Amino acid sequence: MNAICLSGTGNTRHIVSLLLNELGADGISAPIESADAMKALEGDELILAYPTMFSNIPYLVRDFINKNRNVWKGKKIFLITTMGLFAGDGTGCAARLLKKYGAVITGGIQIIMPDSIGDCKALKKTAEQNREIVKKAEQRVTEIARRMKEGKYPQEGLSFWAHMAGLFGQRLWFYNKAMGYTDKLKINPDKCAGCGICANNCPTQNIKIVDGKAVADSQCTMCYRCVNYCPKQAITLLGKTLHQQAGIEKYS
Ligand SMILES: Cc1cc2nc3c(=O)[nH]c(=O)nc-3n(C[C@H](O)[C@H](O)[C@H](O)COP(=O)(O)O)c2cc1C
Repeated sequence: MNAICLSGTGNTRHIVSLLLNELGADGISAPIESADAMKALEGDELILAYPTMFSNIPYLVRDFINKNRNVWKGKKIFLITTMGLFAGDGTGCAARLLKKYGAVITGGIQIIMPDSIGDCKALKKTAEQNREIVKKAEQRVTEIARRMKEGKYPQEGLSFWAHMAGLFGQRLWFYNKAMGYTDKLKINPDKCAGCGICANNCPTQNIKIVDGKAVADSQCTMCYRCVNYCPKQAITLLGKTLHQQAGIEKYS
């Protein structure tokens, strides 16, 4: 089984690695933005994984599914989404799109992980609380893998009721937020040291170094990787002040 994953602050990547490991799967595991993702796409059975954004799919993932519309037919896809609190039908959003292109959805899981929106005060937890969240998530994944090995694939986020929860719980109010790339990434030039870490790690190559400073374009998929990695804490997106730099390496 191959896996393709978008992960801004590492949560989703962590869950995918753990599940593949527990399943004893030895296929390709590729970041969605890498050339290897196209190789992973050649497999007949795939995991597609991403963080929930506003009870929706990150736009980069939607774009990837749409751009590869001709390859999904007949492929068996297991969906993974991670979330800070509430995903509604986070897996269901991708499932419906993939089914339109002929994919077979084998199941899905929605796993609570530390919140990745470092510039919003809501949902902020202490490091200890986040470690506890990750521990619980890891235990869940171990149990899920055990059941999957028996052929019992969970169906989280794929039901009609999950669809309603996602739609009315969040998506209707925040619909536009995840239906395109954004130009709202803010880089404070007074803080930026021009180190290029953000530019080198951006999955959409949305950041360039111009005259020794990072400059953002309009193709941000809101993954928060740059916000998280910036050593000068110069980058924000939804909020104006950075409260916490997320990152799975702190909690696992
Ligand atoms: C722009 C944005 C929107 C988000 N929306 C939601 C949401 O609707 N519900 C939720 O529970 N978590 C939400 N989150 C939190 C992430 O889904 C969660 O922290 C996820 O585990 C991050 O995974 P990653 O580290 O692989 O990127 C959002 C995060 C971002 C950056």
